[in-house]
Amino acid sequence: MRGIILAGGRGTRLYPATLAVSKQLLPVFDKPMIYYPLSILMLAGIREILIITTPRDLPAFEALLGDGSAFGLSLSYAEQAEPSGLPEAFVIGERFLDGQGCALILGDNLFHGDQLGTRCREAAARSSGATVFAYQVTDPGRYGVVSFEPDGTVTSIEEKPAAPKTNWAVTGLYFCDPEVVSIAKGLEPSARGETEIVDVLNAYRARGDLTVSLLGRGNVWLDTGTHDSLYEASSFVRAIELRSGVKIACPEEIGLQLGYLDRATILNRATQMGVTDYGNYLRKMAV
Ligand code: DAU
Repeated sequence: MRGIILAGGRGTRLYPATLAVSKQLLPVFDKPMIYYPLSILMLAGIREILIITTPRDLPAFEALLGDGSAFGLSLSYAEQAEPSGLPEAFVIGERFLDGQGCALILGDNLFHGDQLGTRCREAAARSSGATVFAYQVTDPGRYGVVSFEPDGTVTSIEEKPAAPKTNWAVTGLYFCDPEVVSIAKGLEPSARGETEIVDVLNAYRARGDLTVSLLGRGNVWLDTGTHDSLYEASSFVRAIELRSGVKIACPEEIGLQLGYLDRATILNRATQMGVTDYGNYLRKMAV
């Protein structure tokens, strides 16, 4: 399975902060936002990742992440000319996917939780169908919303419904089999002029091939779409990191744990980071 991070869009809700900079490059406490979804794909065991962003922002992502070797990854890049819908990521990524399944994650989604890596690896291991994760929120109408029968069978998935049937939001992490490219190619734009990810998920549901995995209390899924939610996400990361001394979403650390990187590479990276908190963290890891 290969991974795609969709990190385009206009970021208009964060103006003026995003007038000249991609939203997904803004810091969430001590590191760029894209480190968080990148780390989730790494925890899922995925090493070949395509980053899709705007023509304006692509050089900045490349400057930040390069070819991925600093993390033990193989990264490539593609442009999305206009934000015409999340499913377009699968179409843009067709050649990169080369007939393999795809884990798509939105570049502004921040997840944290104990069993997340295991659950992502399980999802990535399914050879057919799609798997998504749902999380309980107080404002489901801002998201894709999933409803179920008492036995857990999914009855509907609706995008930003005016009257949500449940408070289970579909998070921005989608594990799909290779069929996803042809499903995405067959979609028509919705009334808001974009193709919709819920239409992809409903296509899998119609085939009886959609798994919705619930993220319970031990997990955190945070929004970064407004100044308030971005600030809160930063506060959350800061609180956990200061309390535990362990960083959330340090791709070098994950690369070392997974055996992609050796200590000498981590030490070089630490030197590059200078005498910063991040650099010192890497240095400690390398001894
Ligand atoms: O975050 C989870 C939610 O993401 C899901 O619950 C929804 O079902 C899904 O539609 C999506 O909702 P959003 O309202 O967050 O979608 P938005 O259009 O804001 O796009 C999400 C991110 O993807 C955002 O950072 C911009 C980027 N994007 C979006 C579109 C439509 C792209 O890079 N390209 C695009 O074409």
